Amino acid sequence: MNNIFPVITIDGPSGVGKGTLSRQLAKILGWNLLDSGVIYRILALIALENKININHEEKIAVLIDTIHIAFINSKNRFIISLNGKEVKKNIFTENIGNYASKIATFYQVRKNLLMYQRTFCKYPGLVADGRDMGTVVFPSAMLKIFLYASFKERKSRRLHQLHNKSFNVNFRTLLSQIRERDERDYNRKLAPLIPAIDSLMLDSTHLSAEEVKTKVLMYIRESLVLSSTVLYNTTHNQG
Ligand code: DC
Repeated sequence: MNNIFPVITIDGPSGVGKGTLSRQLAKILGWNLLDSGVIYRILALIALENKININHEEKIAVLIDTIHIAFINSKNRFIISLNGKEVKKNIFTENIGNYASKIATFYQVRKNLLMYQRTFCKYPGLVADGRDMGTVVFPSAMLKIFLYASFKERKSRRLHQLHNKSFNVNFRTLLSQIRERDERDYNRKLAPLIPAIDSLMLDSTHLSAEEVKTKVLMYIRESLVLSSTVLYNTTHNQG
C-alpha cells in the first residue's frame, strides 16, 4: 500500500514523548496529525460512559462507526474533536490508557480501525503517532521513528505530565498501571509494539524534548533529500 501523501510515523511505548514530538512536527511541517492512541482512549471512554462491558469485543468494535475524530491545528495546540465537538474530558489519565490498551488487543477493533486511520493521510502530509503506525497502518511511510527510553525515565516523565495536567495520581498505582500497559502492548498477538525493520531507533533517555525534535528534523531533511534524489534519478533515467 503506497500513501498518496508523505507520512512520518512515530511509534514507541507510553511516556516516551511521542505526543509532544508528533504535535511539534505536525506544526512545523504544516501537516495533519493522527494521535492513534487518542482513538483507542475515546473508544474506552465511550464504552465506560455507556456501561458497555470493556471485554465485549463486538460492541466496542461497532462504536467505530459512530465516531468522527479530528485533530485541529489551533494557535498553540491541537484540539481533539469528537463528532464536531471538542473533547474536554480527561482522556489522558492512566486509567483510560489502561482500558484503551485492553480494547486495543481485540481483532475486530483493530480491523475496523485500520482503514479509518488511513483516512487521516491527507494533503500535504501526515505525522502519525502510536504503536503500529510504521508496522501495520502506514508500512510505506517515508520516515519511521521508533522512540524509546528507560523505564525509570518514562515513569518520571509520565508522572510529571499527569501532575502538569493536575491529575491526582498515586505513585504506586501509576507504576503498576504503566508496567501492566507496557506488558500488554509489547506482548499482544495483534500489532504488538515492535519497531518496523526500516525504522530509525531513537533513545530519548538522556535527551530533552528539544534535542529529540532537532534530531528528528535532521532525519526528515535527510529523507526528503534522499526521496527527491530517487525521484530525480527515476525520471531522468527512463531512457
Ligand atoms: O499512545 P497512548 O498512550 O495514548 O495509547 C493508549 C493505548 O492505546 C496504548 O496503551 C495501546 C493502544 N494503542 C494501540 O494499541 N495502537 C496504537 N497505534 C495506539 C495506541
